[in-house]
Amino acid sequence: MPDTAVHLASGKVRELYALDHERLLLVASDRISTFDVILPTEIPDKGCILTGLSAFWFARSCHIVPNHVLALRDDGRSLECRRLEMLPVEVVVRGYLSGSGWNDYLATGSVCGHELPPGLVESARLPEPIVTPATKAATGHDDNIDATAAAALVGAARWAEAEAVALALYDFAAAHAHARGIILADTKFELGLDQDGTLVLGDEALTPDSSRFWPADEYSPGRPQPSYDKQYVRDYCEALGWDKTAPGPEVPDDVVGGTRARYVEAFELLTGIRFDAYLADPQVVLG
Ligand SMILES: Nc1ncnc2c1ncn2[C@@H]1O[C@H](COP(=O)(O)OP(=O)(O)OP(=O)(O)O)[C@@H](O)[C@H]1O
Ligand SMILES: [Mg+2]
Repeated sequence: MPDTAVHLASGKVRELYALDHERLLLVASDRISTFDVILPTEIPDKGCILTGLSAFWFARSCHIVPNHVLALRDDGRSLECRRLEMLPVEVVVRGYLSGSGWNDYLATGSVCGHELPPGLVESARLPEPIVTPATKAATGHDDNIDATAAAALVGAARWAEAEAVALALYDFAAAHAHARGIILADTKFELGLDQDGTLVLGDEALTPDSSRFWPADEYSPGRPQPSYDKQYVRDYCEALGWDKTAPGPEVPDDVVGGTRARYVEAFELLTGIRFDAYLADPQVVLG
């Protein structure tokens, strides 16, 4: 555990430490949560996969927005970063209709105030990517809101800036992923302000925990898509008839293995770097 660091908080996945006034250490555990419940079983190496992928994207997206990374530690799961004042809004970008976006569309024909064409099917590609803000509710669930509500929370000019940054990040990452056979269906960014009031990208970015990645060759709208994320675990838990309240079920070895394999596959496809090589020297993702 970190030297003189002071433990600040435990998220569902990350432990937060203060290194000093300006610097935080974000340590990604191997915990996995489904339906906002942390499961008792861990997925080996998951924290390293998330941290490595985030560091990969942070290193390549500085031309779009500055980010909070100061250093990637050699354990592969710890990120030293600048302490930000996080915006109270999660900035979600959707290029495809899935998850809560699909549910909202079914109910209302729109998503977070974006009116969409009628007749779209589940997993349909949207005419253009949309930003769908959400607030972090105390329960752990995220509540979708519209742009007016987001602007009320952070200020209109700041919200416009956040939207533009998020769309540019999405376009950049979706193009990168597409060239590697992966659809970036949607993704969530967390932005904050540094001491100068500059908008900075924080948290994790473009990982399977914050994004839906779909294998492009299996893409078939009109149904849910197979994906490189927790879907495998979620399907297992749902098949048990679990009521989605804590405590979550233990997950058997084969489901753990299958989930780990999906996370590793996403890492290797997106980065073009072998996960073994990352574990041997995490700095390879920064190059
Ligand atoms: N640079 C930063 N400065 C301050 N806070 C940050 C920074 N980067 C990330 N965070 C915060 O650290 C936490 C990361 O922990 P984690 O992802 O495990 O939490 P979570 O389960 O998503 O949400 P919660 O914190 O509500 O439990 C988030 O609350 C995130 O907003
Ligand atoms: Mg988080």
